[in-house]
Amino acid sequence: MFNARGEVGSLPLAAVTDGPMSVEMLTGNTTIDAEHEQLYAILKAARSVCLDAARFENCVACSEARRAGCENQLVGLLGDLLSFILEHFKTEESFMRESLLIMVDRLLCETHMEDHAAISSRIERLVAALDSTRTVSLLRELDQIFGRWVIRHVATHDMALVHWIEREDSALRSGF
Ligand SMILES: [Fe+2]
Ligand SMILES: [Fe+2]
Repeated sequence: MFNARGEVGSLPLAAVTDGPMSVEMLTGNTTIDAEHEQLYAILKAARSVCLDAARFENCVACSEARRAGCENQLVGLLGDLLSFILEHFKTEESFMRESLLIMVDRLLCETHMEDHAAISSRIERLVAALDSTRTVSLLRELDQIFGRWVIRHVATHDMALVHWIEREDSALRSGF
């Protein structure tokens, strides 16, 4: 699947770019937005692991030393990402309890928490699939998880939570 420039194809949706986090990721809650910024920074670092993630189909053309270096970097980044994302999900889930949203709309919170579990297990599967000849395809998959899943998660689940905690009579309101 080559494009006009003979490349394998660009990373999907370009959700992570060299620039700042997109406005789609901003919720209006300062704690959640700061944590999303940290998540974005880790994904941005992942983008710079491969010399050309859009062009390389796999890692076989790179030297063994380079492959080992890329794999090491990806191992470190996925470890950081997993531990950071678990902390972030804990923050949001504690907001659900402290703001009493869990009492007001349990189903909404349960669906949100189920999506957290699904995102963490996708990242755990990536960790389990680590292989020095597949680093570039794992990087593309990470970009897909972020582009197709995390952005949708923020736009639906996180926004619903923030809408509740930033309402006018909320004691947890952060923005004002
Ligand atoms: Fe969330
Ligand atoms: Fe979030």
